[in-house]
Amino acid sequence: VKLLILGPTGPLGRQIVAQALDRGHEVTAFARSPQKLDVNHEHLRVLQGDILDDGGTLEAAVRGQDAVISALGVGESFRSRGLISRSVPVIVQAMERQRVQRLVFTSGIILKLDAVPLIPRLLMRLLMRDLMRDKRAGEDVLRASRLDWTLLYPVRLTNGPGTGRYRWGEDVALRGFPTVSRADVADLILARLADASSFGKTLVISS
Ligand SMILES: NC(=O)c1ccc[n+]([C@@H]2O[C@H](COP(=O)([O-])OP(=O)(O)OC[C@H]3O[C@@H](n4cnc5c(N)ncnc54)[C@H](OP(=O)(O)O)[C@@H]3O)[C@@H](O)[C@H]2O)c1
Repeated sequence: VKLLILGPTGPLGRQIVAQALDRGHEVTAFARSPQKLDVNHEHLRVLQGDILDDGGTLEAAVRGQDAVISALGVGESFRSRGLISRSVPVIVQAMERQRVQRLVFTSGIILKLDAVPLIPRLLMRLLMRDLMRDKRAGEDVLRASRLDWTLLYPVRLTNGPGTGRYRWGEDVALRGFPTVSRADVADLILARLADASSFGKTLVISS
C-alpha cells in the first residue's frame, strides 16, 4: 500500500514510518525538516515541505497515494499556532483533487473531555483551551469532507514499547491518568487503514 505520512519526524510519526515499512508498505514522508528523519529504506521516500506554506507541495505528495496518515502536532506546546485548523483544509483539498479517499488523522482525547476522569479533565480544560479550539475547527472541516476519514483520540502518549494490548473504540472507559504508547497508536492506525467499518468514526485509544 502507498502511504503518505504527515508529521513523520515527531515521536508518533517516527513510529508510524517504522511500522509501516515493517509491514511492507511504500512510504512517503512529508517533512518540514527531513534531516531529522534518520531512516534509510528502499521503500521510503522523503519529500520536504511545510504544510502551512501552500497546497502545491502537499498536493504533489498526495498524488498516487492509497492513504494519508497525519501525526501533525505542536509537540509539548500549549499553543496551537492554528496548525490543525489551517492544515486540515489544505489536506482535504489536496486529497479531494487527487481523488485519494482514505485519511487517518491523529487528534486527541481533549476533544472528548466528558470521557476523561475528573482530575486530568480539569487540567486539560485549564491548559489546553487553545489546542482544543484549533483541533475542533480542523475536525469540523474533516467531518464535512467527502473523504473516508477516521479520527483518532489517544489519551496521554508515552514512548513506551508496543504492547498490542490496548483498548480502542468509539467509547472506552477511562480511569485515573490514562496513557497509551505511541507504538500502540501506530499499530492501531496501520491496522485500521483498510477497515471500512472505521470510516467516518472517531476512535479513542488507551492502554
Ligand atoms: N502528547 C500527548 O500526550 C498527546 C495526546 C493525545 C494526542 N496527541 C496528538 O498526537 C499527535 C502526535 O504527537 P507527538 O507528540 O507524537 O508529535 P509532535 O511532537 O507533536 O510532532 C509533530 C510533527 O508535526 C510536524 N509539523 C508541525 N508543524 C508542521 C508544519 N507546519 N509543516 C509540516 N510538518 C509540521 C513536526 O515536524 P518538525 O519535526 O519539523 O517540527 C512533527 O513531525 C499530535 O497531533 C498530538 O496533538 C498527543
